This record gives sequence, C-alpha cells and structure tokens, in this order.
Amino acid sequence: MKQILSEVKVLPVLEIERNVDPEKLVGALIDGEINTVEITIRNEMGYKHIERIRKRFPEIKVGVGTVLNINQLLNSIDSGAQFAVSPGYEFELALKAKDLGIPYLPGVSCPSHIMSLLKININLFKFYPANALGGVSYLKSLAAPFPMALFCPTGGINENNYKEWIVEKNVICVGGSWLAPKGFNNYNEITKKALQIK
Ligand code: 3PG
Repeated sequence: MKQILSEVKVLPVLEIERNVDPEKLVGALIDGEINTVEITIRNEMGYKHIERIRKRFPEIKVGVGTVLNINQLLNSIDSGAQFAVSPGYEFELALKAKDLGIPYLPGVSCPSHIMSLLKININLFKFYPANALGGVSYLKSLAAPFPMALFCPTGGINENNYKEWIVEKNVICVGGSWLAPKGFNNYNEITKKALQIK
C-alpha cells in the first residue's frame, strides 16, 4: 500500500452516480495527471465501475473504497480492485486483507485503532474523518507516540486546506471527493482542478 500511495499527492474518492460517465470521469482525472483513484461501493454500481475502469485504463491504479466487510472485500477483488480502503477500523477485515495479500488502507480515528493494527504490521492508515476529528493538530499529536505510522487524511479536505495536511511528516498523501464530488459531471472542470494540485 505504501508504494501505491507514495506516488500520489491526492487520492480522489469517487462515488459515481448515474448522471456521471465513469470513463469520462476517470479520463478527466488522467488528463489532470492523476493516475490512482478510489472508486467507492456506496452504490450498487461500484463493482461494475471498477471492472470497467480497470479494462478501459489498465495503466492506472484502481482501488475500492468504503469497504465495510469481508464480503465486500472479496467482491471488490473479483471486480479487479488493486487496493482496498475502509473508512474505519475492523480487525477481522484487516486481517483478511492481509491474508489475501491485497494492499489495504484501514481507517483509524484514535490511538487504540493504531495500536491494534500495528500488531499485524499495518502502519499506514486512512485518518478519517480528518477535519471533524480535530484537523491537523490531532494528527500532529499522533506523531509522538506513533513515529512509525503514516496517514492518508480524508474527510473535509479540499483545495483550500490540502496543503496544510501534506506538509506534515506523518502524511503520505490526502484523500477526498473535492476533485470530483458526487454527481459532478463537468469533466473539463475536473481536469482543471486536478491540474491545480501542486
Ligand atoms: C471518504 O470516504 O474518504 C470520504 O467520504 C471523503 O471525504 P470528503 O467527501 O469529505 O472528501
């Protein structure tokens, strides 16, 4: 997982609605120099979208997001997901991902979650919901007891605040829906926003 995220500054979290063409959406992100995306399974079309995007754009990395249980993890792997992300901590799910060898980014929101996952050698986490939890100062506080931990903060991050996060030494990249919010289908605008990431 570390290798995948170390090549990323912003990981777009996509919830693809019916009014959005998945290929145009991801194509717009690719035009904006984004080569890794997280497609959530928050609607029933998520798996199909992953399958389709993997076929259409074999050159990019496609992960699955909002994985809540082992069944969803298995279905996502069947669809071709190359990594998996969860919003929260679920030990059995993390263990299963580890056993299956799929790169996995579990969500954490407190020190206890981190301690538990360190036991199975996971030291890269989604920090969610980043802003609501207390923002950058919360994450800074985690650096002292957990110098081995790296985070992908997500939740409430946008073009106005992402830079505050990525300068932190325990932040590998940030995630968010702001580049392509749910239902947004102005593909030129998506490319434009993606190209603004520095
Ligand atoms: C996620 O699951 O990562 C979030 O829903 C993304 O949060 P955002 O919509 O606040 O960017």
